[in-house]
Amino acid sequence: MSHFIITIDGPSASGKSTLAKKIAQRLGINYLDSGAFYRSIAAYLIEKDVPSEEESFLSTFLEGAQLKLKYEGSFARYYFNDLEVTPFLRKEPVAMKASFIAKQKAVRNFVNKNLQEISKKGDFIADGRDLGSKVFPFADVKFFLTATLESRAKRRELEQKTMGIETSFEKVLEQLKLRDEQDSKRKIDPLVKPEDAFFIDTTSFTSEEVCDQMLFEIKKKFSVQPSFFRTFICIFLKGYFSLFYRFQVFGEEYSRKFLGGLVYANHTSFYDGLLLLTLLGPNTVFIASQKVMNKNFLIRLITSLFPLILVDEKKMPRDFFRSCNRAIHRGCPIVIFPEGARSTEGVISPFKEGISSIIVHCKVKEVLPIYIGGVYTIWPKGKLLPSFFKKITVLVSKPIQVSGHEEVETKNNRAFLTDQLRGRLKNLEKHFKDTYECRT
Ligand code: C5P
Repeated sequence: MSHFIITIDGPSASGKSTLAKKIAQRLGINYLDSGAFYRSIAAYLIEKDVPSEEESFLSTFLEGAQLKLKYEGSFARYYFNDLEVTPFLRKEPVAMKASFIAKQKAVRNFVNKNLQEISKKGDFIADGRDLGSKVFPFADVKFFLTATLESRAKRRELEQKTMGIETSFEKVLEQLKLRDEQDSKRKIDPLVKPEDAFFIDTTSFTSEEVCDQMLFEIKKKFSVQPSFFRTFICIFLKGYFSLFYRFQVFGEEYSRKFLGGLVYANHTSFYDGLLLLTLLGPNTVFIASQKVMNKNFLIRLITSLFPLILVDEKKMPRDFFRSCNRAIHRGCPIVIFPEGARSTEGVISPFKEGISSIIVHCKVKEVLPIYIGGVYTIWPKGKLLPSFFKKITVLVSKPIQVSGHEEVETKNNRAFLTDQLRGRLKNLEKHFKDTYECRT
């Protein structure tokens, strides 16, 4: 799969880096902070006391210079020549100097070349001033963020005070004004909104709200356009369940907005897959066991209409994880029934550990638990046809955010994660039994 790149441009303190970090975390990709590249050069010049006013000097100086990044998890360390500049990057004189040298062609060429080289190594979200317009004109998704000068100054003041930097609102406001001026009025690659970028004014939104909005756009962009046929089936199924059952869903807002990630549910009936399709939409991808597929004609027929990722429970080859990864990056919800088969008692059976293996290998960040209640009595295993006009209740939980994937590598930790996921579904089951089942 070729690598993808998402860009965020905008003026200083418009929320770019906070959002880029959040999105990188949610999508399991790396964050590329182009401002830190300019700051690295500036920090080096300041720390080593290099006289750098002359444009011709910087041009020669950068010819032999080296900028390196080392990721420690999601945190990047910056090295310029022999100096680790990470500790100096957030200092205000460094920011001012960065903004000053960023006007020079040689500096911009140096930074852009480094950014482009690094981006070849993986999937990235990059932020800056000219990333969508100049550095990555063919980026997969582009955003342009802004906010009023006052609200940006308030944010920056808070950020600096949290970092223990002495400052005042007036001082920050002045500095931002100056940097805005330098960034948008310079001759080479000024701050501009790329034509094809999504524009978001973040002034009156929380970063969580903006993040959701951006993730939604990313999902839309990456998602494959579902065929008319699949869309029709989903609409048909919704109509079918609403007409023939007393069908109610709680937490539908979570399933509707669910971005590429793993969905898991209890499994007692043929209806489960179909119900999940009505909730998750035509881009849904199912994980199915090769063994079950081979012996069950009806499942083969139903699922032939939707993309499947087949798995042999004993061995989960690289290709399997690659298919899961691809689906997640395209914004598809991947459905798994972690019990492995339909439960014959109508209660949640033990989970197989495959669910944790997928989460670990594909670095899945969001997992959505769904409990499907009522269908066991409607169409249980062994019953030829379903009964009608009964109550079906689906409970969609808030997505679980998963982090620390490296720590889950051992068998013990995988078992722990599997238990936790089962625990979440058991809670939903209890909630269903206490609140809805008795009223069925
Ligand atoms: O984004 P940040 O504040 O870290 O950037 C520091 C400075 O680097 C900015 O004020 C801007 O002048 C410059 N810069 C740039 N182009 C970019 C990123 C940053 O000119 N793509």
